[in-house]
Amino acid sequence: MALSRNVHITGWGSYAPPRVVTNEELARIVPTTDAWIRERTGIEERRIADDHDFTSTMATRAGRRALRVAGLDPGRLDLVIVASLTPDYLMPNTASLVQDALGASHAAAFDLNAACSGFIVGIAVASGLIRSGVYDSVLVVGSESLSRVTNWTDRGTCVLFGDGAGAVVLQASDQPGGVLTTAMGSDGSGGDLLSVHLGTRIPVYSQALSAGENYIKMNGPEVFRFATRIMSQAARQVVEAAGLTMADIDLIVPHQANNRILQVAAKQLSFPQERIYSNLARYGNTSSASVPLALVDAINDGRLRAGDRMVMVGFGGGLTWAACLVEWSYSPEDRQWSRWHRSVQWSRYRLAGAKSWLNRADRWLASMEDRLRRRDHERANDAAGSRKRKLPWSARR
Ligand code: UT7
Repeated sequence: MALSRNVHITGWGSYAPPRVVTNEELARIVPTTDAWIRERTGIEERRIADDHDFTSTMATRAGRRALRVAGLDPGRLDLVIVASLTPDYLMPNTASLVQDALGASHAAAFDLNAACSGFIVGIAVASGLIRSGVYDSVLVVGSESLSRVTNWTDRGTCVLFGDGAGAVVLQASDQPGGVLTTAMGSDGSGGDLLSVHLGTRIPVYSQALSAGENYIKMNGPEVFRFATRIMSQAARQVVEAAGLTMADIDLIVPHQANNRILQVAAKQLSFPQERIYSNLARYGNTSSASVPLALVDAINDGRLRAGDRMVMVGFGGGLTWAACLVEWSYSPEDRQWSRWHRSVQWSRYRLAGAKSWLNRADRWLASMEDRLRRRDHERANDAAGSRKRKLPWSARR
């Protein structure tokens, strides 16, 4: 009998830049107060990337931590997916930068942008590829540098967002459980409710950029209405698709946008508020990074035990939404590796990094060799030409 191919989260990791910005600090640059931000959102502080942290470098740190927990050599990864609305560049894609930095030399890599739903869309895509036998091991990362597209003079948005990254390793297994069901949706008619108009429709030399088109813009109350409706709807959809009810669910790990959204969703789902995980107070809204940052914190807080059923749900720009139901397979202590194992892993990460450096060196040597060959060829041609010029004209053919 063929074994069923299930998809398990075998590794997890997150990274938040060290610079903490409190509500009080923001109150010094825009007309706001700590009390307003806490009461209306639940946010107390957020992390902001410094000059050395970028979407790709934060993703790499989170990814490396996830690989370490999974005990997986980066060379055995088949695919790296980076969900982000703030990529380092339009090209190269951020996932390829991460694939190289990790030394995941056999992995394909692509970026995915579904705003705050991106990480769960990544899980849905990766699960499909694993379940159908295309790949065995996939790294899914959500990483954002939202501070770089934030208008720091707009109190309506700048108090909400932060930077960071989170990642999971998904692997094929014949053990029951893991990712049970996924759901995704989109309503592009609401695209203008939450936007960053930075792309080829507005050329880089356009006046529109100096007019602030490149910043996050949001119709807060409209997005709030959408979020409260869709969060409970998407969560219910993945639970019912598995033939379960909300009473079978132990924990919801939602996109961290506003604690009031979580309160409304708890009521709509008749689900205990204390079983909807929130770390919004510490990180603010980090878009595609928010669900994996919350997942890792929930695991570290001991909120997930082997056998628990957990729903992750995201919603945001696009408008988009996505949810997945996971039967959790591991307790953190199952993923504690011996010191010997960790040092072998460390050496393998170093080797993987060295391989990437060797690839670059090899490419440089190949291009040098090519250039020298062309120069030798040109010199030989010049020499032949001058020899010909010395011959009587009838011999110059
Ligand atoms: O990640 C994607 C999904 N995003 C979301 O789900 C976010 C959904 N939206 C929200 O969370 C909320 O709508 C916000 C937190 C963005 C805004 O809260 P709100 O209660 O909807 O406020 P509002 O936009 O209706 O504004 C109410 C008042 C306004 O003043 P007036 O016009 O009533 O005098 C705003 O100017 O609050 C004012 N205000 C502020 N006051 C102090 C807006 N921002 C601030 C601020 N500090 N930072």
